Amino acid sequence: MKAIKREMRRVILIGDSSSKRTLFFEKAAKALDVPFRVVDWEALTETSALDLFEGAAVKIDPPSYSIVHLSQMKEQLEAYQRTLRHLAKADCAFFNSPETICRMLDKRETNRRLKAREILVTDMFPEEIKTADQLEETMREKHCYSVFVKPSCFSGAAGVAAFRMHPRSGNRKLYTSCRLERGRLVNTKKLTCMEESVRIRRMLDDLLALGCVVERWHPKAEFQGKSYDLRIVFQFGHIISMVARQSRGPITNLHLNNQAMSVEDLELGETIQQKIASVCKDAWEAFSGISVADSESKFVFGGANMAGMDLLLEKGTMRPRIIEMNGQGDLIYQDIYNENRIYLEQVRILSGI
Ligand SMILES: Nc1ncnc2c1ncn2[C@@H]1O[C@H](COP(=O)(O)OP(=O)(O)OP(=O)(O)O)[C@@H](O)[C@H]1O
Ligand SMILES: [Mg+2]
Repeated sequence: MKAIKREMRRVILIGDSSSKRTLFFEKAAKALDVPFRVVDWEALTETSALDLFEGAAVKIDPPSYSIVHLSQMKEQLEAYQRTLRHLAKADCAFFNSPETICRMLDKRETNRRLKAREILVTDMFPEEIKTADQLEETMREKHCYSVFVKPSCFSGAAGVAAFRMHPRSGNRKLYTSCRLERGRLVNTKKLTCMEESVRIRRMLDDLLALGCVVERWHPKAEFQGKSYDLRIVFQFGHIISMVARQSRGPITNLHLNNQAMSVEDLELGETIQQKIASVCKDAWEAFSGISVADSESKFVFGGANMAGMDLLLEKGTMRPRIIEMNGQGDLIYQDIYNENRIYLEQVRILSGI
């Protein structure tokens, strides 16, 4: 027993001491009797000493933000990215390296990287679109009248908007969970639909000024009258969790009052499931740089060991398309409140048991 313990790597979690992520990761470490500590984001800055991480296995969870103004979120995100770049200098074994987390935070970079490998992704416009005028002009040129506008590096659906414009009548609809409050964009947890063109264009101008990607709005497969997409957690070379997110609106994120459901209930069939597994495997390899066979149940040093993949199935064809990948997208309530398999596997492999 002692011999095994000596070979164990110390595991450090950078996160918020009181978050669910920390609570359940710690629970996994205790269950496996692995030496573990939390370093709170509050104790870290862009210049902090890094010697405490030396020789440890380090997982970086996101800080919990309480900010609601999108412009402040942008500033906070930039500071976060600077701290990640500083952390990259630590002499330790990262679960997902800070560079990997930053790369996946960037929706354009993720989309490009996957597309270069001919992996089916959401159809992103290559143009940098800065204003509502430019957006509508581009939509007309492409004959694409339904789009998603998404801040390039935000998460949790902050600033995500689904926009539809009728080519002849010019009628417009914008679905988003943010709203303009005293001239400032505020993030909420409630999806609303705007129909007034002047207000929509103002909102789009403000959103696009944050730095956004624009994508074709792909109609999603439906189950019992609601559309859904999948959040898949892929780690150590395999899929460990798949949850469907069902919604009446176009944006499926679960904090927007949408429902999680088990993928088994969708009865997807063998062929579709194989296609999903194959897209995930290819996406994984595009990021980790090594083959699934070589990373199966092993710790890969210096790159990616986990990705939370958002994947939609096209309505009709059921072809899987990757929407985005999240380098910290592993918090799955259905898992932590049941077997806690995701974090147990992480702790086991990180510590080298
Ligand atoms: N091009 C698209 N076509 C159809 N639906 C889309 C498209 N892009 C995004 N969505 C929907 O909007 C949701 C949010 O988009 P996305 O995952 O890119 O944003 P996010 O803020 O990074 O979310 P999170 O960080 O919570 O994963 C997706 O889960 C999906 O339901
Ligand atoms: Mg997402």
